[in-house]
Amino acid sequence: MSDESAAVGDDAPVLTIDGPSGAGKGAVSARVAEALGWHLLDSGAVYRAVALAAVDAGLDADDEAALVELCEGLELDFARGEGGVSVLLAGKPVDQRLRSEEVSVMASQVAALPRVRSALLDLQRRFRRAPGLVADGRDMGTVVFTDAPYKVFLEASVEERANRRYKQLKEQGESVKFLRLFRDLEERDRRDRERAVSPTVPADDAVVIDSTDLGLEQVVDQVLALVRQRSGSEKTKS
Ligand code: C5P
Repeated sequence: MSDESAAVGDDAPVLTIDGPSGAGKGAVSARVAEALGWHLLDSGAVYRAVALAAVDAGLDADDEAALVELCEGLELDFARGEGGVSVLLAGKPVDQRLRSEEVSVMASQVAALPRVRSALLDLQRRFRRAPGLVADGRDMGTVVFTDAPYKVFLEASVEERANRRYKQLKEQGESVKFLRLFRDLEERDRRDRERAVSPTVPADDAVVIDSTDLGLEQVVDQVLALVRQRSGSEKTKS
């Protein structure tokens, strides 16, 4: 067994944080992973990386066979640096392009293809390593890590999520229209919730947290309390 495979821990604990766009999953996951000293998987970045590689290769969003091949050869890495986690594609940082509108649209299109989702399962599961993993996405608790002992579904009203995104984009100096953002979010929510494969729905054993009226710290505290409470009851059981 190589060192690499020895480091992969199928029984390392996983905390899944799923939910719609703009509910604050990214910020909460990063804070919780830091507090626990666990690894972090941003699965949205995985779909975005596939989309970016597909754009660069000139592939169409519905060319499922070519996209699956691309997923199988994807050279994706996450590097921790001063300013947070950076995404590397074939060794090169691609963070800025990953967030572009073109890549966002392509990501949601490729994410709807069942064979693309299957092709990315192993890659995502390889992030499960001791001492633990915080996995952020849409189907972490329902498909990728169904046996995770800790599952959260993070929600917030569409108005609040649109408001947060609006402020964020304004701060970055982008000119945006609130109504447009609101409608786009509603549309993406509908597509993610209603798609045939891996729709964005809470796992049966997930704790749903509504962050509409909560600050980041309050959500982080609630998630950490859940992990402590469930790990306490696991110890009592054994
Ligand atoms: O979370 P983020 O906006 O970065 O995700 C990019 C795209 O990837 C979204 O359109 C979402 O539908 C898709 N996605 C997914 N499953 C995941 C994570 C993201 O389908 N686990």
